[in-house]
Amino acid sequence: MSSVYPSGWFHIGWSADLRRGEVRPIRWFERDLVLFRGESGAARVLDAHCPHLGAHLGHGGKVIGDVLRCPFHGTCFDGRGEVTRAEPRLLAEFPKENLRTRAWALEEAGGMLFLRHGDAPAFPRLPELDGVSGAEAEPWVPFRRGTWKVRASFRDLVENSTDVMHFVTVHGFKSGAVRDVVIDGSSFRYTIELSVAVPLLGDLDTLSEVEYHGLGIILLRPKQARSRFRFLQTVTQLDREHITTTMTLYIQRRDWLRDLPMNLALWHYNCRSLAEDFRIFEHKKRVAHEPANDTDRAIAGWYAQFFSD
Ligand code: FES
Ligand SMILES: [Fe+2]
Repeated sequence: MSSVYPSGWFHIGWSADLRRGEVRPIRWFERDLVLFRGESGAARVLDAHCPHLGAHLGHGGKVIGDVLRCPFHGTCFDGRGEVTRAEPRLLAEFPKENLRTRAWALEEAGGMLFLRHGDAPAFPRLPELDGVSGAEAEPWVPFRRGTWKVRASFRDLVENSTDVMHFVTVHGFKSGAVRDVVIDGSSFRYTIELSVAVPLLGDLDTLSEVEYHGLGIILLRPKQARSRFRFLQTVTQLDREHITTTMTLYIQRRDWLRDLPMNLALWHYNCRSLAEDFRIFEHKKRVAHEPANDTDRAIAGWYAQFFSD
């Protein structure tokens, strides 16, 4: 496993963009891959190049039932990368076992496609995302969604989320504090308290719980009972310099009209905050520094597990 790209579950696209029978060439973690959705509805990812003579399955490959047919000599691969059909003449020269291709773990949740990179022993399955995946009596629905490409690393984002000082200097909060840091295997959560001066309304205190599921999935939930929303952020490394990040604001359908002005303001505020961070990230350079305290040390240890071989 490359130590440049961490292990874990990473967002690679939207479920709605991949219809049944569709095939797409994709490239993540510096690897050429092919994404397809079988007629039964399951989405799959395989290594892109056919093990026979190297054709790219994402350029001209066809979905037949639940298998993908190579555009060159017609070998068919199932979602596990096993050959289900091939020309007898081809099989006479190439034993079936040598034609197997690599299948990647892919799961869908909340209308998103998540690909697993690396061995990720701590979370072989996509974690349950409270309110976004799984059965709920009142499912959360996406209200606004955005995607940004940024010159940044996972480390920039992790450090930024508990960097209390920057909430004041960059985002204009009056004060902030990070509390109750809990590290639990592949997840890490904390509570963040921020105070903001709102024109005409005075000081407003917010209290939120932030939960990282590996480096690729971050869920933010307000702790005040009156606030009913959540933000889901995904982060995927594009190349050695850039990440792509998505943010979705989830709301409850029954509160849609009542909370509309608040949710529009929240989304606007969120986009502005991201832009403020990204302006810094775009031009910053990495300065090596030791963790300043026990919390930073614990977070650094949690972070390192995703880059171990
Ligand atoms: S290259 Fe795919 S079957 Fe020959
Ligand atoms: Fe920030």
